[in-house]
Amino acid sequence: SEIYLQGLAGAVPPFTTDPTALESSAREVLETGPFGYVAGGAGSGATVRANREAFDRWRIVPRMLADATERDLRTTVLGTELVAPVLLAPIGVQSIVHQDGELATAAAAAELGVPIVLSTASSYSIEEVAEASGDGQRWYQLYWPNDDDVTVSILERAKRSGFTALVVTLDTWTLAWRPQDLDQAYLPFIRGIGTAIPFSDPAFRALLAQSPEEDRNSAVLRWVQMFTGVDKSWDQLAFLREHWDGPIVLKGVLHPDDARLAADAGMNGIVVSNHGGRQVDGAVAALDALPAIAEAVGDRVDVLFDSGVRTGADVIKAISLGAKAVLLGRPWVYGLAHGGREGVRHVLRGVLADLDLTLGLSGNRSLADLGRHTLMEKP
Ligand code: FNR
Repeated sequence: SEIYLQGLAGAVPPFTTDPTALESSAREVLETGPFGYVAGGAGSGATVRANREAFDRWRIVPRMLADATERDLRTTVLGTELVAPVLLAPIGVQSIVHQDGELATAAAAAELGVPIVLSTASSYSIEEVAEASGDGQRWYQLYWPNDDDVTVSILERAKRSGFTALVVTLDTWTLAWRPQDLDQAYLPFIRGIGTAIPFSDPAFRALLAQSPEEDRNSAVLRWVQMFTGVDKSWDQLAFLREHWDGPIVLKGVLHPDDARLAADAGMNGIVVSNHGGRQVDGAVAALDALPAIAEAVGDRVDVLFDSGVRTGADVIKAISLGAKAVLLGRPWVYGLAHGGREGVRHVLRGVLADLDLTLGLSGNRSLADLGRHTLMEKP
């Protein structure tokens, strides 16, 4: 009704919230390198497409006269109440698409009561983003460094800065073959990362101090290499548990046996995700992996989901197939590209409103009403 009223006064929204048109218009506001960084996937892009095709194979079956005029979108994840089953996915180096990057995103999310998950590959420091996030909910995403001092230092800084949950991304122990980034020699990425992050960490600065002749470029390269070819095992999760006393979530789980290993290791949650099709070209669509994983561990850990969520209907489908909440990725990054903080806010408000309307129009008053009975597979 807000948009309708503005329309009567002759004003239209700043840019589209149609997911396909949003990606096309982001292509117009971004240069080739930055656009490719966001939109691109691994290899042929087969898994980027598979993620969307999987959503299209499920259809919602609406119920009528179901008393759904009042809705409640709240849910509880890791023991904390969320206003809706939506978080912002960790997205690295956001200054590639807008100079305010993570600061804009954190402020917009806090304003709407939606948690952010800050990437280790942020363009701004942990402390700066915490300040921009204010009293907003914030989780920290760890790319697990191959240096224990740096790992502990990052975890301590995140804890001190009010990040409550740790999300450990397992699927990116080295970067995949990503043609659109390789075509640009990863330049936007390196430029974006070359500012706050490496030099804001005291443990990393101590490493650099051992070779003072190193120039800035090679120091950045050393930082990137700290996250490349990282060799970890399930046993080593105990190290993270020892140094992080809040909940821990493993991101990038696609096999029910890995979900069981996560639960056995005492993790509190998992994110069923293929990193938006950016790591294993030809990997299973995340939505196709979800039901068996939710079935295997849904009673032991909080099962979250990402990869391909674009609309309110998509959120409903993921919840119906066993997720407790979803992480939203590319759409709000395009919003950031269009208009910084206001752009992120516009996209996020759109998805939340769409979710609320679609939930009600399909005859549901709350997320607890959703389940396999909500959906039918495409005939
Ligand atoms: C990501 N993703 C990601 N994941 C992570 O754990 N740490 C990171 O730094 C990043 N960086 C990143 C950058 C960009 C540009 C994209 C598009 C994605 C993956 C992200 O958290 C999430 O898994 C995907 O974005 C989900 O796919 P969709 O919904 O964006 O298609």
